[in-house]
Amino acid sequence: MSELKLLISRERIADRVREMGRQITADSMDEPVIFVGVLKGAAIFLSDLLRSVQLDATFEFIGVASYGNRPAPNQEVRRAWDSTGEVRLTKDVDQPLRGKNVILVEDILDTGLTLTFLKRLLLGHEPKSFRVAVLLDKPSRRKLAVEADYVGFTIPDEFVVGYGLDHEERYRNLPDICVLPNVALANEG
Ligand code: IMP
Ligand code: MG
Repeated sequence: MSELKLLISRERIADRVREMGRQITADSMDEPVIFVGVLKGAAIFLSDLLRSVQLDATFEFIGVASYGNRPAPNQEVRRAWDSTGEVRLTKDVDQPLRGKNVILVEDILDTGLTLTFLKRLLLGHEPKSFRVAVLLDKPSRRKLAVEADYVGFTIPDEFVVGYGLDHEERYRNLPDICVLPNVALANEG
């Protein structure tokens, strides 16, 4: 593990996630909210963020993979598919989101392909409101113009792991966010 360089400590993460929770609470006007976490990277952020909001909150998980250009299985997925063809749905939400206040929770916003895909897909449910919370944002890598409503930290163009983020499924359990040097960013999902 010696190759890892500390980028954001667990203390800074905890402070910022609490702040984000307060902001989301204030913005939600006491209305119920459904958090939709993107597997698997957002699972840890989601669990901390949920405990930082004081709201009538429930949560769901949605799954995507950003490789394997397979045909979209149905029309709803196909609509979300255009221009984000690298992304496919591997697990859908378990309940309709129509008329609900939805907050999509993602670990990191990088090229924007995943978020663009999921935004189109979830807006197709016709929620009452739709917001996006990301722990990390790498704006320098954006390919599609898409932004989050809540951003934990803006980071430089480096490959990071920990606090849910992986490299080939490893390092998700690190409590801190660290840079993993010498990783090619091209095919991450
Ligand atoms: P996007 O579709 O390019 O915005 O990528 C979002 C997804 O790519 C995230 O949900 C992560 O799974 C993955 N990803 C992007 N950058 C990193 C990184 O630095 N470390 C780990 N995963 C990353
Ligand atoms: Mg990944």
